[in-house]
Amino acid sequence: MRVFLSGPMGVGKSTVAARVAERLGLRTVDLDARIEARAGRRVAEIFAEHGEPTFRELERACARELLDEDGVVVALGGGTVTDRTTRRALLEAGILVTLMAPVDELLRRVGSGEGRPLLQGDAEARLRAVLDARRSDYAEAHACVDAARPVEAVADEIVAWVREEPVAVALGERSYAVEIAAGCRARLPQRITRASGAVLVADRNTARYLPEGEPQERARRVVLEPGEEHKDIRAVERIWDAGLELGGDRNACVVAIGGGVVGDLAGFAAATLLRGVAFGQVPTSLLAMVDSSVGGKTGFDRPQGKNLVGAFHQPRFVLCDVETLTTLPVEERIAGLAEVVKAAWLEGEDDVAALEQDAEALRAGDLAATERAIRRSVRTKARVVTADEHESGLRMSLNLGHTIGHALEAAAGFGALRHGEAVALGMVAAMRVGRSLRQLDEASVVRCTALLDRLGLPTDLDRRLDDDVFGYVGADKKRAGATVRFVVPGGPGSHRIEPIALDALRRHVAG
Ligand SMILES: NC(=O)c1ccc[n+]([C@@H]2O[C@H](COP(=O)([O-])OP(=O)(O)OC[C@H]3O[C@@H](n4cnc5c(N)ncnc54)[C@H](O)[C@@H]3O)[C@@H](O)[C@H]2O)c1
Ligand SMILES: [Zn+2]
Repeated sequence: MRVFLSGPMGVGKSTVAARVAERLGLRTVDLDARIEARAGRRVAEIFAEHGEPTFRELERACARELLDEDGVVVALGGGTVTDRTTRRALLEAGILVTLMAPVDELLRRVGSGEGRPLLQGDAEARLRAVLDARRSDYAEAHACVDAARPVEAVADEIVAWVREEPVAVALGERSYAVEIAAGCRARLPQRITRASGAVLVADRNTARYLPEGEPQERARRVVLEPGEEHKDIRAVERIWDAGLELGGDRNACVVAIGGGVVGDLAGFAAATLLRGVAFGQVPTSLLAMVDSSVGGKTGFDRPQGKNLVGAFHQPRFVLCDVETLTTLPVEERIAGLAEVVKAAWLEGEDDVAALEQDAEALRAGDLAATERAIRRSVRTKARVVTADEHESGLRMSLNLGHTIGHALEAAAGFGALRHGEAVALGMVAAMRVGRSLRQLDEASVVRCTALLDRLGLPTDLDRRLDDDVFGYVGADKKRAGATVRFVVPGGPGSHRIEPIALDALRRHVAG
């Protein structure tokens, strides 16, 4: 376990680190102290004698060492996270928490700024400038915690975050944490206290998860008709109107409590209401937990096709409460496992092996196994989204299994085959393409197929492939000329994106 505490000078990182370490039975490391020991001089001296770049280099090297140390609570330096590589590595290696306090409080705590090289001169102006410059870096954390409170309260909150093991989606000031735990939907009221009001959107099947007790002057409930056939502009209008009824305030927020349909609709309404209000997600289907609630794609369907109108709008929080899966129809839950397999295959051997280990438990709906699988899938999706928020390249890897999958879904007539079921079949097809292009061997095709099968997903591809299906591949909107950009899998953890001519694709799939 590793906990990294970041935040500006004077916020109390060392004091809080000691308290958190005590609570968790870990040891504390002070990064500045380590740098001083290494350099044999005080931080202020390093700045004065060699300048900031030399200090940052030393800091980077010392921070890198910490990534391999276990059982530590680290008080970072105020500027450690300004180095992007270090920051992203810390986010991967442990739980990174930013401590923050108002400027006057920080000034009171640092006193004259003695020994703080960045505060020389007009301390207040300097501090404000430093905070401004680092705003986006500090926001990229698993949690931002208000440190202008008694140490005990601050430590309590950090310990809760650490125990929770949230997944961070690092996107500068639009960063957020995905919280994954049984019962975590109970935190919804807490997550929206700072909004002026909330539109809580569910569908008839998920309305049971709407929080109780939000007063009428602060909250409006919108309960939609369930199903993809109702993912339309009329549903969006109902959410807009509820928001406007609340008073048309830009500090309001919209919260989706439901599957991917509710999430996409509520997200789009939030993106467009008053040119954008805050948005939160309480995904209640497995697909929504591992896929649609993370990444900020929102939208709705038109008669011409699915998801044709939409916007990117990231949520501020995501609460994945696995308890809600107990009421999800079992076929829906199983279908969601196809995206879990996809993410694991993109991620690598460890994740695929973990799914194989848990396959029967996952199929049966074991909540602990499901929670583990969700955390791994969300990690993969978060990493891809961080690297490519607006789908210019890398994010296309998430289309693994989807080219043929979408075609099968469309050919069957929408609704006849669940999206996840189609993706499972599409994964089998993609594996065959990989084999045909010598990116993977027969054993990998068998392995992936067997895993899907054990999870209860369909793999009987051959009897579903006909001219019709390939006609739909050709109609796919990602087509470029007579070729499709195809995510060709290699073994676990490897893939490449290749243009493949449609007739060649057919031969590869027949393999
Ligand atoms: N935004 C994205 O990045 C993204 C990614 C993938 C999919 N999607 C979208 O997600 C949608 C599919 O999501 P989905 O599979 O969650 O479909 P869905 O929202 O239609 O949910 C499936 C069914 O399960 C019901 N349900 C959901 N949670 C329940 C619960 N806990 N208890 C009882 N019933 C419950 C719903 O009412 C619905 O009938 C599609 O519209 C797709 O376009 C979006
Ligand atoms: Zn999908």
